[in-house]
Amino acid sequence: MNLLSVVIRELHIEDYDALISLWDDANLPYKPEGRDRRDNIEQEMKQPIAIFLVAEVDGKLVGFIFGTHDGRKGWINRLAVSPAYRKQGIAARLIAEVESRLSNFGIGIIACLIEDWNTVSIQVFERLGYKRHSEVIYFTKRRDSKI
Ligand SMILES: CC(C)(COP(=O)(O)OP(=O)(O)OC[C@H]1O[C@@H](n2cnc3c(N)ncnc32)[C@H](O)[C@@H]1OP(=O)(O)O)[C@@H](O)C(=O)NCCC(=O)NCCS
Repeated sequence: MNLLSVVIRELHIEDYDALISLWDDANLPYKPEGRDRRDNIEQEMKQPIAIFLVAEVDGKLVGFIFGTHDGRKGWINRLAVSPAYRKQGIAARLIAEVESRLSNFGIGIIACLIEDWNTVSIQVFERLGYKRHSEVIYFTKRRDSKI
């Protein structure tokens, strides 16, 4: 049961520094010179398929999620909750909100890529009803290493 007064709202670009602090606190890898640079985030936020949400407690940014879709499948990215606010249902609320918004886009399947060492995140997604696919191998091709 969550006793915190948590507000889920859209990310504003003015939250950028707080967002970077949150990712640092959460030890979440990100690309400060690439797609997570302020102007790139600002550009991405303008896309109609982008769902950038934050969780706030007493005006402090304590959680973030990025949802999107490719027309066939929804994706959850960059989920993070500040260490001091974990295990109180904040990630669950952020994920539920993204699921609901993706459902409004007509998206019926949502995926998330999790590194194999991240046992907490694996457990969180399993608890929230996501099915693990250990048989899938992730491939990428990058224009450059900063992206
Ligand atoms: C993963 C993370 C976002 C979870 O945030 P959180 O707010 O603590 O998660 P919640 O409290 O909403 O928990 C959701 C469910 O997962 C479970 N859970 C949370 N932390 C857990 C843990 N450490 N071990 C096992 N289960 C856990 C909760 O009990 C809950 O299940 P329940 O409703 O059945 O009780 C947070 O640990 C984090 O920021 N980690 C570092 C960044 C990261 O790895 N992000 C994910 C990248 S894919």
